[in-house]
Amino acid sequence: MFPVNRPRRLRRNEALRGMVRETHLSTSGLVYPMFACPGTKVRNEVASMPGIYQQSPDQIVEECRELVDLGVPAVILFGLPEKKDEIGSEASSPTGAVQLSIEAIRKAKLNLLVITDVCLCEYTSHGHCGVIRDGEVLNDPSLELLANAALSHARAGADMVAPSDMMDGRVGAIREKLDEHKFQDIAIMAYAAKYCSAFYGPFREAADSAPQFGDRRSYQMDPANVREALREVAEDIEEGADIIMVKPALSYLDVIARVRDRFDLPVAAYNVSAEFSMVKAAARNGWIDEQRIVLEIMTSIQRAGASIVLTYHAKDVARWLNRC
Ligand code: PBG
Repeated sequence: MFPVNRPRRLRRNEALRGMVRETHLSTSGLVYPMFACPGTKVRNEVASMPGIYQQSPDQIVEECRELVDLGVPAVILFGLPEKKDEIGSEASSPTGAVQLSIEAIRKAKLNLLVITDVCLCEYTSHGHCGVIRDGEVLNDPSLELLANAALSHARAGADMVAPSDMMDGRVGAIREKLDEHKFQDIAIMAYAAKYCSAFYGPFREAADSAPQFGDRRSYQMDPANVREALREVAEDIEEGADIIMVKPALSYLDVIARVRDRFDLPVAAYNVSAEFSMVKAAARNGWIDEQRIVLEIMTSIQRAGASIVLTYHAKDVARWLNRC
């Protein structure tokens, strides 16, 4: 008790603070999301996400070189199709923008982990993450399509696939499909606890993936639930997930902490598009100190228990950390 105990003793200077610091930011868990679109020499900035582009495979490779130089170890690729249809056929096309981007990165021999988002919403005309019948998103018929998309990514050379659709059983379906084709060493990072969140707003502009009717509440989780998140995670682990993800990050730090506590697998968190856009907008107005805010956000996500962070700030974070 005070006056014997004085917590301020260990905050007197930076050396002391460094000695007792519990969370150390590093670049090793950073994953940078990128949007691949068809064509060549295409580079369109996403209006609501300054510094983030829809780009063709040749441009993706150029930015990947920059990532390697900055010390960002991994990317996650999202794809935009040439043409959308009812069942998202282009999701598994060997000549899709994602598949071509992976091949181009491999050909450039970059020392970079390539993760792919596996979903149908960017590829379907209705913008839902599964196939539709009578206005309903069907679960089981969507699994084969998702597994085929994952297989096409593995064939193109992806290191890891990350299903984000939230259909029941998709991790198992993907694991089975990959194993059947001798891709038993390709890891699965499951978007295990993915909430139906307004924080995905800017992403849907970037990926052109807004649902054309209804919303995603019948497959993404209710933001009010945390026990259900633990069940979702347990199921994905049983089906063969290697890494489990919580998404979004900031309004769900309690979920990250509970998942970290309960399970032994590596935990990832997705610092999603609106979390990024809000920081950018406030920084542009001169209302906040962007660097301090972003590093504090990264610290909070890691402190909550995520060692892997998918973030649009990855390049800046790597720059700032490497300077220190
Ligand atoms: C696709 C997907 C989404 C995000 C990642 N994968 C959007 C959605 O579910 O509507 C969101 C990422 C972000 O907001 O940065 N299912």
